[in-house]
Amino acid sequence: MQLLLTLAWLAAFVSSVLAQRIAIGAPAEWTNVKPGQNITVRVDRPNTLSSSQEVAIAIGLWPCGSTACSNIDVQEVLGNVLYSGPYAPKLVSPGLPPFQNFIVTVPVHFQPQEVSLSVAHFSLIGAGFEPFLEVANITLIIPKAN
Ligand SMILES: *[C@@H]1O[C@H](CO)[C@@H](O)[C@H](O)[C@H]1NC(C)=O
Ligand SMILES: *[C@@H]1O[C@H](CO)[C@@H](O)[C@H](O)[C@H]1NC(C)=O
Repeated sequence: MQLLLTLAWLAAFVSSVLAQRIAIGAPAEWTNVKPGQNITVRVDRPNTLSSSQEVAIAIGLWPCGSTACSNIDVQEVLGNVLYSGPYAPKLVSPGLPPFQNFIVTVPVHFQPQEVSLSVAHFSLIGAGFEPFLEVANITLIIPKAN
């Protein structure tokens, strides 16, 4: 009985935490970007029934160098921090989850390579305002200039 209760509690906890996750709505994974280019990063926060209070995000670009970004634990590095501050997603269009757009600039000194775009997200969950931290990431490409 005790075990069942614990499992039920864990399941409820895990699903409430999963439900609070953000997603990078744009750009799409594997998008080509240029050094110096402004890109719009759309940070989605799907609507959930469980309550949460948004605190902040930080957006970083990590140059993966001569290796593929998938060989790097990109959750541990933000690299060049292009934005850090408040996050206030809003429901703007019925077909999309609540989101906020951030315009960030690809550092001009970046060489052709794979770069990892990571968004670190901090929020407070539930009646007890439990601290929650996660990192979402996608890989972008800086192609060789011809
Ligand atoms: C990128 O955004 C910055 C800051 O908003 C602006 O000053 C700059 O002109 C933009 N650059 C391009 C290429 O649009
Ligand atoms: C990014 O995050 C996903 C999980 O959403 C993970 O599978 C992937 O390996 C991560 N790394 C890169 C470079 O995309």
